[in-house]
Amino acid sequence: MPEVRLVNVTKRYGRILANDHINLTIRDGEYVSVIGPSGCGKSTLIKSIAGIIEPDEGEIYIGGRKVNNIPIEDRGIGYVFQDIALFPHMTVWENITYGPNVKGFPPEETEMIAQEIIEMIKVSARVDAYPDELSGGTQQKIAVARALMSRSSLMLLDEPLGALDLKVRAVLRYELRRIAKDLGITVLHVTHDQEEAMSISDRVVVMRKGRIVESGKPIQLYMRPKNLFTANFVGEANFLVGNIEKVSEEGLLIDLGDGLKVVSTEAKGNIGDRVVVAFRPEFVVLGGKTDKNIFSGEITRIVYSGSLVRITVETPSGDEILIKKSLRFGESPPETGEKITFSVPPENVLVYPYPEAGLHRELSLE
Ligand SMILES: Nc1ncnc2c1ncn2[C@@H]1O[C@H](COP(=O)(O)OP(=O)(O)OP(=O)(O)O)[C@@H](O)[C@H]1O
Ligand SMILES: [Mg+2]
Repeated sequence: MPEVRLVNVTKRYGRILANDHINLTIRDGEYVSVIGPSGCGKSTLIKSIAGIIEPDEGEIYIGGRKVNNIPIEDRGIGYVFQDIALFPHMTVWENITYGPNVKGFPPEETEMIAQEIIEMIKVSARVDAYPDELSGGTQQKIAVARALMSRSSLMLLDEPLGALDLKVRAVLRYELRRIAKDLGITVLHVTHDQEEAMSISDRVVVMRKGRIVESGKPIQLYMRPKNLFTANFVGEANFLVGNIEKVSEEGLLIDLGDGLKVVSTEAKGNIGDRVVVAFRPEFVVLGGKTDKNIFSGEITRIVYSGSLVRITVETPSGDEILIKKSLRFGESPPETGEKITFSVPPENVLVYPYPEAGLHRELSLE
């Protein structure tokens, strides 16, 4: 029922275009995350759907019904806003059961569901506390519980887990998805945590400067991002600039200068095109085991993060390449100053037209 459709939704704050002609459809039962740099318009988007702000242009439909002039309480949504607002004069229990009680749901049923949710988010001991007696993280959990209690079939969540500890957050995000799927709820979930978005969403929407840059399944955004910005924003990537030298059935041959050439299985492009080549640090193979796309360079930096080691290599042409490698138990990693060779499989080499604004501007999070 609650398919959400935005048509050309635009919101200005003076000269700031917070949302710039947004077109987006969220299917019934779909779990969609929105990511993007701070200030790109994520909260503005969710506020427009909720009815907290009125867009300057465009239409918003929920379940086929145009809701532009319908007040928030009649839009049939549950929501968690970025700046949590629990009712300060009500206890945790009263906050959670307020909505269903006002709507006149049977009290016994409300109590049962509330108990279940409270246990799930592990706040049973705090049901009699008032919001200002709780940590920011616990308040956030209560806000999520209250949204779930609304039993709306559309949930709008703006950084619902942002104030929680990493581990709690990692558990709760799967719970959120599980509950949404169990109950068939449609979810729009705004987060600055791309890992969170990638791990729980059916689809991820990438925003930048008020616009949607790209949307797709998490794996697609990671493996085959359509945009340079996405390649940089979702996960990490190395970027090199070159020119297409040859186009064949196997793909593209790209001249990177200084005698360095790479092949990519990508098919789009013409001879002479200036392009940006991108590849993820985790797809680099150490030791140049293939006969294609072999690079060499000197290790300038090694950074450990648990079992993963991040190796920065400077190539003879002065480019810095990041390599990520997981270590087996007992394996010793390479050392700074060491000269190494490495290769990148052609299927992992992404190719993009050189951006008009320049590479630096295109990747910038501003
Ligand atoms: N009430 C307001 N008055 C003026 N400008 C606003 C207002 N609300 C938002 N903006 C501006 O609109 C743009 C989008 O803001 P928005 O809050 O939607 O970003 P966001 O993507 O949610 O950012 P964050 O990740 O930091 O939460 C920003 O430039 C912001 O400064
Ligand atoms: Mg925001």
